[in-house]
Amino acid sequence: MKPFYGLDFGTSNLSIAIQNGEGTQVLPIDGQNKTMPTVLYFGPSGGEPIVGQSAMLRYVADGMSGRFMQSLKSVLPNSGFTGTYLDRLGFADIEDLIAYILRDVRQRANEQVGMDIDRAVFGRPAEFSKDPEEETMAIERLMKAAKLAGFNEVELQLEPIAAAFHYEMSLDREEVVLVADLGGGTTDFTVTRLSPKRRRKRDRSKDILSTGGVYIGGDKFDSAVMEMKLLKYFGQDAEYNSWEKWMRFPSYLVRGIMQWQEIAFLKDTRTMRVLNDLVRYARTKEDKECAIRLLTLIDENLGFSLFQTIETAKRGLSTYDSDCIYFNQSAIKIVEPIFRNEFDEIIAFALEEYEQCVDQVLADAGVSNGRIDSVFLTGGSSLVPCVQSAFANRFGEDKLRRGDTFISVASGLASSQLLS
Ligand SMILES: Nc1ncnc2c1ncn2[C@@H]1O[C@H](COP(=O)(O)OP(=O)(O)OP(=O)(O)O)[C@@H](O)[C@H]1O
Ligand SMILES: [Mg+2]
Repeated sequence: MKPFYGLDFGTSNLSIAIQNGEGTQVLPIDGQNKTMPTVLYFGPSGGEPIVGQSAMLRYVADGMSGRFMQSLKSVLPNSGFTGTYLDRLGFADIEDLIAYILRDVRQRANEQVGMDIDRAVFGRPAEFSKDPEEETMAIERLMKAAKLAGFNEVELQLEPIAAAFHYEMSLDREEVVLVADLGGGTTDFTVTRLSPKRRRKRDRSKDILSTGGVYIGGDKFDSAVMEMKLLKYFGQDAEYNSWEKWMRFPSYLVRGIMQWQEIAFLKDTRTMRVLNDLVRYARTKEDKECAIRLLTLIDENLGFSLFQTIETAKRGLSTYDSDCIYFNQSAIKIVEPIFRNEFDEIIAFALEEYEQCVDQVLADAGVSNGRIDSVFLTGGSSLVPCVQSAFANRFGEDKLRRGDTFISVASGLASSQLLS
């Protein structure tokens, strides 16, 4: 058998595993790490782009200048985004941008295994988009990016199914399994029949009883924390004087900072004028402080750093009952405690969506809660305690299986029969 890679190109992280005919192995891809942040950075002084952990460090060291790109996977189904203009390199399509990352990853993996491998099974979410045209476009874009990066033979596999195949490797009997892959951009489910015997079958389509997913992952948790906990520092309730009338700060500005990627687009001459007016004509001293923070956030492009502190606090809440969102850069000083039960309320909207999606995949599979032998939870957001409790409450704590949170999809893709 010719070796091939299993490549999990995630919204937040990617990982890669090799199948060499004797088994699968997840490869260290970012130093010793088996996952790499899915980020791309074009430094201000030109040169080749950097990917992964070093891109994050360099972007911050460069004072957040240059072009930093994250969550590129979530752009795949967005027909409004075709690409971007890069100073020296000209216009880059979304496919070119993703290919920069994939090419680097393929090279690093090839160096690890000492071979030039150009075959891969790529993961894809259960659904890129509800719109069939966007769905097709997302797949075409991903396939094109893979080709550009030197993957000449590519197959796609649904990410939750790959995670299921990874879990199947640990089984010694048949089970009906609900797999929940809770990532950064999407949350995917599948109900699958798994067993050591079925593993050897080439065609598994009859074992996959249903699949489904929602576009709500950990990134949305971060945005929700920004909205509920931090917008007050940026003038959510503040007022300023405009033509002799007290007005709230424009909501397109205050709400425009809820997603950090949007913040960079707010900085134009007109907005800067509006922001300066907010500072000048703010109603109270506190309102003026909010205006200064908002101006600083947008003018100095501090969104990425701020969201990193939100994400750090969120991760902390998976271990501790409380944490603190601490930010101290330029004119923005924030010390905002956050408690786990408060966070649970903030993300309750997501849990409701998950619940409904699970109802649907179980109905599609024609099974009841009681027919599920085990629930395999994977993906970074499965580490959130209230997410785990929701599944424990529904299916029973003893049915939950966890582990290999960040590498199960890559490992399952490499164990796929699609290219073997
Ligand atoms: N300890 C933790 N507690 C809570 N959330 C976490 C923790 N560790 C990571 N996360 C979150 O998990 C998400 C990333 O998970 P993962 O790497 O599985 O996603 P992905 O595969 O890149 O995304 P997708 O599958 O949606 O394309 C991020 O939102 C991150 O903030
Ligand atoms: Mg994932």
